[in-house]
Amino acid sequence: MANSTIYRKDYLPFDFDILRVHLCFDIHPEKTYVTNTMNIRSKHSSDTAHGLKLNIQDITIDKVFLNQKELHPHEYQLSEQFLEIPNCQGDFELTVQSHCHPRTNSTLMGLYESNQSLFTQCEAEGFRRITAYPDRPDVLSSFTVTIRGDKQRYPYMLSNGNLIVSRDLADGRHECVWEDPFKKPCYLFALVAGDFDVREEKYRIKSGKEVLLQVYSDKGNYDKTAWAMQSLIHAIEWDETRFNLELDLDRFMVVAVNDFNMGAMENKGLNIFNAAYALADPETATDASYADIEAVIGHEYFHNWTGNRVTCRDWFQLSLKEGLTVFRDQEFSADMMSKGLDEETAKSARAVKRIDDVSVLRTAQFAEDKGPMAHPIRPDSYEEIGNFYTVTVYEKGAEIIRMQHTLLGEAGFQKGMNIYFQRHDEQAVTCDDFVDAMDTVYREQHPGKSLERFKNWYSQAGTPTVHVRTEYDDKAQTLTLHLKQTCPPVGLETKRENWVKQPFHIPLSMGILNEQGQEILPTQVLQLTEAEQTFTFDQIASRPILSLLRDFSAPIIINYPQQTQAEKVLLALHDTNAFARYEAKHQLAAQEIIRLSQAPDSEVSPDLIHIWESNLLNPSFDANYRFVLLSLPSETGLYTMVKQIDPIAIHQAHQKTIRTLGERLKTHWQTLLANHLPTASYQPDFISAGRRALCSKALQHLMAIKDPHAIEQAIYIHEHANNMTDAFNTLALISEYGPQEVKERLLAAFYQKWKDNPLVLNKWFSLVARHADQTRIRELINDPLFTMRNPNRVRAVMGSFCTANPIAFHQSGGQGYQFWADCVVALDSINPEVAARMARIMDQWKHYVQADRMKQSLQYVQQHTHSSNVQEIVNKALNI
Ligand code: ARG
Ligand code: ZN
Repeated sequence: MANSTIYRKDYLPFDFDILRVHLCFDIHPEKTYVTNTMNIRSKHSSDTAHGLKLNIQDITIDKVFLNQKELHPHEYQLSEQFLEIPNCQGDFELTVQSHCHPRTNSTLMGLYESNQSLFTQCEAEGFRRITAYPDRPDVLSSFTVTIRGDKQRYPYMLSNGNLIVSRDLADGRHECVWEDPFKKPCYLFALVAGDFDVREEKYRIKSGKEVLLQVYSDKGNYDKTAWAMQSLIHAIEWDETRFNLELDLDRFMVVAVNDFNMGAMENKGLNIFNAAYALADPETATDASYADIEAVIGHEYFHNWTGNRVTCRDWFQLSLKEGLTVFRDQEFSADMMSKGLDEETAKSARAVKRIDDVSVLRTAQFAEDKGPMAHPIRPDSYEEIGNFYTVTVYEKGAEIIRMQHTLLGEAGFQKGMNIYFQRHDEQAVTCDDFVDAMDTVYREQHPGKSLERFKNWYSQAGTPTVHVRTEYDDKAQTLTLHLKQTCPPVGLETKRENWVKQPFHIPLSMGILNEQGQEILPTQVLQLTEAEQTFTFDQIASRPILSLLRDFSAPIIINYPQQTQAEKVLLALHDTNAFARYEAKHQLAAQEIIRLSQAPDSEVSPDLIHIWESNLLNPSFDANYRFVLLSLPSETGLYTMVKQIDPIAIHQAHQKTIRTLGERLKTHWQTLLANHLPTASYQPDFISAGRRALCSKALQHLMAIKDPHAIEQAIYIHEHANNMTDAFNTLALISEYGPQEVKERLLAAFYQKWKDNPLVLNKWFSLVARHADQTRIRELINDPLFTMRNPNRVRAVMGSFCTANPIAFHQSGGQGYQFWADCVVALDSINPEVAARMARIMDQWKHYVQADRMKQSLQYVQQHTHSSNVQEIVNKALNI
């Protein structure tokens, strides 16, 4: 069956207002009954009657009542996707009784069971799996929820808002009634029932009210929720101070669940989290997990204003809430990382966060822009909305917000936010509404100008390239900068006729250094709004060295062929902008690895070794910034930079570079290692985390050259570690570079030790998958602790094998691709949303040396899967 396409241009408001909803749940894991009573008002005058069309999916409708009178089945229409009541006028009450099956619901959308408890996930279109309803974000209503269930099995029964009734019923059952004080779209509805450990904290919000904060986790995990609670408190404080936004509820709950499709969900007052982004203690969580938890707790909390108080008119506007909220969580993390540090260190801490975010963007989003799923941050069409929770909507969306922040400045941006909330609080709006609020401020700041052209970032896909050409006149002491932007059509744009892509409004941040590496022009932001523009700089006394795109001020590619290798080296050693300095060495290293992958017999350039040496000898930066300076580009990060991807050649060139830097700078690595050995106590803070990262960086280069002392040290650190970061980093290094028998012994011991902790076990699965051959990966799938029903485990095994094990995945016979295909097919009938994510691994097939074989496996998946989710992905991949 061909999928049907939904278009943004077809948007029509709903014909009815749902004034109130009362949901009544009678919960049982096998079969849950839902009675949904809605007070409805037609928006049309009473003489024109309209049909009321409600969405349903995989639920059974038992009875329908109109104004308390049961309807005969011939008085309504029931199809697989809709319940339709013809001729509805004026005000009326509609009651729908239905049931669903949480235990067998493996899609993890709607109501489902996980570890004996019940959870919901409604965004984007899961509510229709719970009850018949207009399942669209622009229908806002007041919700009351009654839950009845077995008290022993479900001592906690939670929903959005405030608990207004809690009482015992006959037969060991009890009842809770929840009322949400805010109107909301149904995608923000949530229900949780189960037995949990609860961590509680009282918090006094800025205006004085005391609120209750709670973090729920599976029994036995109480100690692992302290970090989430602390992060939540930091997030609330941060939103109060930086955005002047307060918590609008009396009670805010966070619940961790093991089986979850994505990171977390911002349901009003009842956030539900993938346990991987909620649970941490030093013994089981790595530094990266601590940082992720802080970011995701922040993200979901910030949605309370950007997403919940002001929501989306339709799902094409998803970036309205996601791009903005990612921007907010990135700023939150950056502020948290730099808190309490001196000015210089704080700057480099912010740069490290920026470098990490930019690297995700360039690795994943630039790739998306080059592939069959390329779309603007506000797409024009989709087949399955679940497929559009993408790096483009999220991370590029955040860049588009960041550019507005750059153009307006912090004060101007906050002023724009104010206008946005004043105009749209408690409404469902569009991306244009957001830019219009910012534009009001921009027009004040720049009379005669506007953000109209800026809106092209919302409507056009692709990564623009800015071509740079310079002329320096040493007599007149002027520098002329010619800028030209290009962005050819990508994805569906290539199929549009009679359409010309428009230029973007690009804030281009830059500075100028002289040949001695001194800054002669501090950072300034050029506004590029035309296809071609020229800028002139006077009083440039000596030949200028340009430092372009400082702090990555726009999601673009700079093409500056005049820039010499020597200039890049100078910037890598002297640029005063921490991001740009990193960027110069990153570009040099990337070029170098790509060159080596094409000329495997050549040697690593002395320039690169020189830069690494000087960074190794320069202790003036903090540990994290040193870590990013001493890190090579990731292999996958290089994929978007080459015409044709040869993953094995890139892997070998990457390893060779690691070894060469190891050999040539051996004593420096040894010193670095000696200075960063594990300390007695573990703190998850940013600076300590940087020290651990440096330790493992030094070990990597030394172990890659088989330095016996380093190998011994790694084993020692692994066996004596008091924290998961040191334990896991060393295990990963031993798996890659250590002696076979040690590697096997330690991996087996790790599995034994952690087999009852699903989150730690995922790390094991992921590590083994990263180094598995074809036999081992099939064994892994048959491991008694592997299950396709847990998305984290699927990601750990399939995700790692297909994206971080180039040798086996891209093995010439195509067995790796067949493994991928078999997994996607198996997952398709279990969890289509996760299957579609995994299907996207092949998006870039056309760019690989083994394109033909990859195409065959895509065709195989196209023929053997049924979900609209996977079908959209593979059809697009094969048709573009
Ligand atoms: N709104 C959530 C977040 O970004 C993501 C939920 C997406 N869920 C899904 N099943 N597609 O915070
Ligand atoms: Zn979000």
